Parts: sequence; structure tokens; C-alpha cells
Amino acid sequence: MTHNHLTTNQGAPVGDNQNSRTAGQNGPTLLEDYHLLEKIAHFDRERIPERVVHARGAGAFGTFTVENAMKRYTKAGFLGEAGKETPVFVRFSTVIHGQSSPETARDPRGFAVKFYTEEGNYDLVGNNLPVFFIRDAMKFPDMVHSLKPAPDTNVQTPDRYWDFMSLTPESTHMLTWVFSDYGTPANYREMNGFGVHAFKWINSVGNYVYVKYHWKPHQGVRNLSKAEAAAVQGEDFSHATRDLYDAIARGDFPKWDLHVQLLQPEDLDAYDFDPLDPTKVWPEDVIPLHKVGTMTLNRNPQNFFADVEQAAFAPSVLVAGIEPSEDKLLQGRLFSYPDTQRHRLGANYLQIPVNCPYATVQNNQRDGAMQMKPQAGSINYEPTRHADEPKEAPEYRDSSTPLHGSATRQKIAKANDFAQAGDTFRSFSEQEQANFISNLVGDLSSVHEKSKLLAICNFYRADAKLGESLAAGLNVDISGYLQHLNR
Ligand code: HEM
Repeated sequence: MTHNHLTTNQGAPVGDNQNSRTAGQNGPTLLEDYHLLEKIAHFDRERIPERVVHARGAGAFGTFTVENAMKRYTKAGFLGEAGKETPVFVRFSTVIHGQSSPETARDPRGFAVKFYTEEGNYDLVGNNLPVFFIRDAMKFPDMVHSLKPAPDTNVQTPDRYWDFMSLTPESTHMLTWVFSDYGTPANYREMNGFGVHAFKWINSVGNYVYVKYHWKPHQGVRNLSKAEAAAVQGEDFSHATRDLYDAIARGDFPKWDLHVQLLQPEDLDAYDFDPLDPTKVWPEDVIPLHKVGTMTLNRNPQNFFADVEQAAFAPSVLVAGIEPSEDKLLQGRLFSYPDTQRHRLGANYLQIPVNCPYATVQNNQRDGAMQMKPQAGSINYEPTRHADEPKEAPEYRDSSTPLHGSATRQKIAKANDFAQAGDTFRSFSEQEQANFISNLVGDLSSVHEKSKLLAICNFYRADAKLGESLAAGLNVDISGYLQHLNR
């Protein structure tokens, strides 16, 4: 037998791939045509549930190389030595619309990195904007519902998300980013990445610091104005995927430097905002950036579905030396991702090659649908007297952190919802400010008067001139509210 035969999924050569087996030349098709049944049945199952958010994305493989060892701060081995290299897989995405939606949408962009470290996988699941809309996971399903197409019309409707956002004042800072041109990045290569949350780094003697992550592109940052985004979308609704794939294919490998900000636990209360609040940045002039290393993306996936669609990232995928902070948004994320992935990809989703650790996996978790890596032997429990069975490694125990207070449902003490939104607005160039105001006016003009007024008031609290410009652009008289707003 030659080795270039078209075969069935059972490996049997196919004699005829054009004609169904029928009763006579014009007759009905016979149930015995197994090749036809298998071919159609497999096609019928080609789609899996798309991600509930971040459905549209592109991915690539590469390497992360440490420049400055972080051993002083974290015992994570992959950050421990200058020159250390770790393979990575990265997926970029838009958030709200479906798998084949245009990549020009006004949206945060996902920036998810999987490090295949020798001590297990580590996922850094971030965005291209430094903050988030909300600070408590309890609000996430409502927030996403408001942004998704309406359940009756299946159309995204500004009135619905402004209804939610205007009553959620902590969203003001994120909205300042999303409605600026940073909400329509030129492509995936020319954008920043941020871990957004604070995490904890723990070193080998058990001391910990809080850490925030920043990815800075060697390619620079480039955004599209509203008109430019419309023009790109008219030409190509896959422009960002195409840009990433083509750059890597021609050997123009995109690179990002990883920087961190470090905050001592005793300084948590030193600011007029809560450093664990993901609607806040840590001012870089007070808490400086330290460069860790550089990531280079140098290999396109061979099959989009296998590697990109089936990729599963989670903020709970951590290695020893990196732990979650007490951030209430992050805490909810720790549960959400593996939960949806067991539904989206199945119980053994970590055996899919793109998700599978390079590190050895040996434990007593067995069986389940689509088990591809059965573990040998008769001992599938622990403890055991058998010396050659896998044992605990106490040096990898997680840290012990002091806690205080009572179980409660309470907002954080220092909400400070508006000050940083104002700082961000004032950090924009004149052109960026003008585009931001025009983008907002365009969107808010179709919104119910009550939400419009609330939104203007929120932006006024961030920056009085911004509030006045919005009010003027939307023909809303806010003079009766100024006394209250200026309190
Ligand atoms: C994807 C939930 C906040 C970044 C997802 C997915 C879920 C989810 C269910 C789909 C995962 C999958 O199917 O594999 C949540 C919840 C949040 C939250 C419950 C808040 C409580 C955030 C924040 C960020 C973020 C704050 C950025 C810092 C991402 C990214 C992806 C994603 C980048 C796509 C990962 C990929 O490329 O596969 N999120 N999310 N999310 N989320 Fe979130």
C-alpha cells in the first residue's frame, strides 16, 4: 500500500470520495455507506461552543527570555535566572462579539500568555488596557449581558450598556480608555498588555510583594480613529489576525518587554485608592516599572482550531511563587475559566496539546471523556507505602497569609471612582481628547436622557471640562446639577 491514500477515520483507504453508494444509478442512498455516514457525522460535530466572551481571537507560539532575575521577589523558577528561556503560547482577542466578528470593534483586546514552565504552566490572562470596568466578580455576568447583543433584537445597543455603566460609577476609568482610540488598536502587534490585577509574588523565604504586570511592544502602540476603524472594517474584517499571521510568516517576529511594578504589603493603605482595586493603576512615578524580560512570537499555529480555538487560559493557572491577591474580581475569575473550559472543551481539556504542560503530569486524577494519557500501574490513590509513587513536595506549599475581619458583603473602603479617570483623560494629547469626546458623544447620543445625564455627571466628576464638553456635545443642560457635582 502506498502511503498517500485518502482514508476513513479508521485508516481504511477510500475507493470513491465523489459518489454515495445508492440502490441503482438513480436510486436512494444505502445506509451501509459507512464512509458517507462518518464523513457527514464528523462534519455535523465540527463546532464546539465558542467562548462566552473573547470568542474572536488569534494566537502564536514563541519564547520568553528573562533579562533581570526576579529571585529576590519570587521563587517561580522561570523568572529566577537571567537568560532563562520559557516557551509560550499567546492568544489575542476582542471581547464581546462572536467568533467571526470584525476585529475593528470598540472593545478591550485580550492579551493571554501561557508560559510552559518546568514547574507547570503559568497563565497571565490580561488585556490591552490597564484597568477594568468593575471591581467585583458579582457584577460580571450583568456587565457582559449589557454589552452583548440584546436578547430580543440580537443587536448591541448603547442604551443597554450605558444603562448599566452609568449606574456603575467605577466603570468611568475603563470607559475613558475604551472610548478613546485605545479602544480600537491598529492590530494585535502594536498594543500594550496589562495583567490588570495585583498578584502576589512569594520568595523562597516566604516574604511576599504585590505585583502588577505590563507588556510593552517593540513595535510601538498605534490606534485607529473612528473613521480609520470604519475604513479598515470596510476592507477586511480579519485585519488583526492577518497582520499577526503575516508578520510571523515573513520572519518579522513581534516582541514585547515584560515590566512589573512591586508594592510592599505594608504600603497597601498608603494611597488615596485601594491598590487591589482593578479599576485603578499604580502611578508609575511612585511605583516604578522594573524590566523582567522579553517575549518573542516566532511560530504560527499549524491548525487554528486545534491550537487557538482549543486554547484554555485561566488566571488560576499559577506556579509556586505566584499567588492571587485578595482582589474580588480576580477571586471570581479563578473559578470562572476552568469551569467554562470543562463545559467548552471537556473534562480532559488539559490533555489537548496546546494546553498540556511541558512539565511532567503525575497524579491520581483518572479517566473521564476523551482520556488520551492513561497513567500506568495499579496505584491510583495517595498516600501509599509504594516508594516509587508520586509524593508531595513541601517546598511547593502555598504561602500562609494573615487575614482579618468578619465574613461580609461590603464595598471596598476607598472606591475613589473618578480621580484616575480624570488623570487618564488629561494624559491624552489634544487630538486624543478630541477623538475621545467625539466617540463618546456619538455613542451617547442614542441613549435614554436619564443614562445620558448620569454618564455626563460621572465624567464631570472625573474632569469638569470633560463633563462640560460632553454636555455641550449632547445638548444637555447640567447647570442645575453643578452644585451637587462640585461637592
Ligand atoms: C476569557 C470570565 C474578567 C481577560 C474569559 C472567559 C470567561 C471569562 C468565562 C472565556 C474563557 C474560555 O472559554 O476559555 C471572566 C470573569 C471576569 C473576567 C468572570 C471577572 C469576574 C477579565 C479581566 C480580564 C479578562 C479583568 C483582563 C485582565 C480575558 C481574556 C480572555 C478571557 C484575555 C480570553 C482568553 C483566551 O484567549 O482564551 N473571561 N473574565 N477577563 N478573559 Fe475574562
